[in-house]
Amino acid sequence: MKESTVYGCGLIELNKIHNRAGNITIIEENKSVPFPIERIYYLYDIPGNESRGGHGHKELHQLIVAASGSFSITLNDGHIKRTFFLNNPNVGLLIVPGIWRELDDFSSGSVCLVLASHLYNESDYIRDFQEFINYKK
Ligand code: TYD
Repeated sequence: MKESTVYGCGLIELNKIHNRAGNITIIEENKSVPFPIERIYYLYDIPGNESRGGHGHKELHQLIVAASGSFSITLNDGHIKRTFFLNNPNVGLLIVPGIWRELDDFSSGSVCLVLASHLYNESDYIRDFQEFINYKK
């Protein structure tokens, strides 16, 4: 959305069931995440010093979780930037539509799990930053 801001995004604490054999976190549609989950994907084997993202979405809601390791996500709504450090598999970052995002500082072996509200659609992306700024005006 054109008028969305970085303050509409934020960390969501997910559940964690712990026992001697480890932990389990469960993410359920419209319970832990405030959108229908149509797609799940994950980034892995990310070389050191690489960055991902560098785009905005017009309609897509996402929840991003550091399923393993850690990384930083910087959000930008065209006016304000907020950076989040994700390093906990039971915390997710909710990103609303209309936000430019950059992911970097991936630790070795990290896995970036993404839950998304829609199927992949290239026309939902804004990949040029100036175009993003114009879209937000
Ligand atoms: P992209 O979303 O640009 O990656 P990132 O934000 O992590 O840097 O996607 C990278 C490539 O993968 C691009 O060519 C589009 C393709 N892709 C799909 O085909 N389907 C998908 O669901 C996603 C997320 C990406």
